[in-house]
Amino acid sequence: MSGATAAQAHPDRAPQALLTVSNLESYYGPIMAIRGCSLEVREGQIATVLGANGAGKTTLMKTISGVMDPEKGQIVYRGENIAGASPDSIVRKGIVHVPEGREVFPLLTVEENLRMGAFTRSDAGEVRRDEEMVFSYFPILAERRRQAAGTLSGGQQQMLAIGRGLMARPTLMLLDEPSLGLSPLLVKEIFKIIRRLNREQKVTMLLVEQNAKVALEVADYGYVMELGRIVMADDAKRLLQSKDVQEFYLGVQQETQRGQKRWKQKKTWR
Ligand SMILES: Nc1ncnc2c1ncn2[C@@H]1O[C@H](COP(=O)(O)OP(=O)(O)OP(=O)(O)O)[C@@H](O)[C@H]1O
Ligand SMILES: [Mg+2]
Repeated sequence: MSGATAAQAHPDRAPQALLTVSNLESYYGPIMAIRGCSLEVREGQIATVLGANGAGKTTLMKTISGVMDPEKGQIVYRGENIAGASPDSIVRKGIVHVPEGREVFPLLTVEENLRMGAFTRSDAGEVRRDEEMVFSYFPILAERRRQAAGTLSGGQQQMLAIGRGLMARPTLMLLDEPSLGLSPLLVKEIFKIIRRLNREQKVTMLLVEQNAKVALEVADYGYVMELGRIVMADDAKRLLQSKDVQEFYLGVQQETQRGQKRWKQKKTWR
């Protein structure tokens, strides 16, 4: 569904798909968390996957980055099926995962955390230059470079998690709920930087979010996930205008069609 929809949405000027996920299924033991998920991320764009708690967003990210193996389906990155490949080989191919909950190493300094992100690289001079590039986007991290990451605020830890991801020189960055637990002002700041990184550093992004408004404002293309499947796909601007998305995700009340779709009934928005 998503492939065809995406192609129709961008007829001529369509950039190539960098990542195409088709009919993906992933399990936790007997629990099927991803149930035939298909989507694509186009080169140079920001794609977002919206979904309520438990929709399967994090599981999708873990399956793409190789932390979990899918049971079925394909993950084609630059023409190669990477489904089931090891996490470090996937990083080497250019896909970096910034996990949910900004898992920085709390006892290591900011600088040491950034160097951990460059573990696949041996070009020391370039690594130092990229560190300065990260500091230019996140000046507060430069000020705190020798401070233990555990002493940073939540927003600063999120910046460090993104910065650490950048140190691998990714082509595609998977961002899992960067807005989680941050104040609206910080969310705005971080999303502005995400957009700049996409434009200036040419990092293609797949962003999963519960915060539909900020995600759709920054993204080019959007998907809605429910129970491990994609149930809507469209240009981000059109999704932002869609009645279903407005009602369910943006808290805009509509008079008609209440509760007709299952994904509308499911979740209470935070
Ligand atoms: N470690 C686990 N063991 C068993 N089931 C799990 C595990 N992690 C997630 N699940 C289940 O898999 C489904 C998808 O969860 P997932 O964490 O991918 O959702 P999510 O969309 O990221 O949710 P959230 O917005 O809360 O982060 C849910 O039903 C969840 O309960
Ligand atoms: Mg999650």
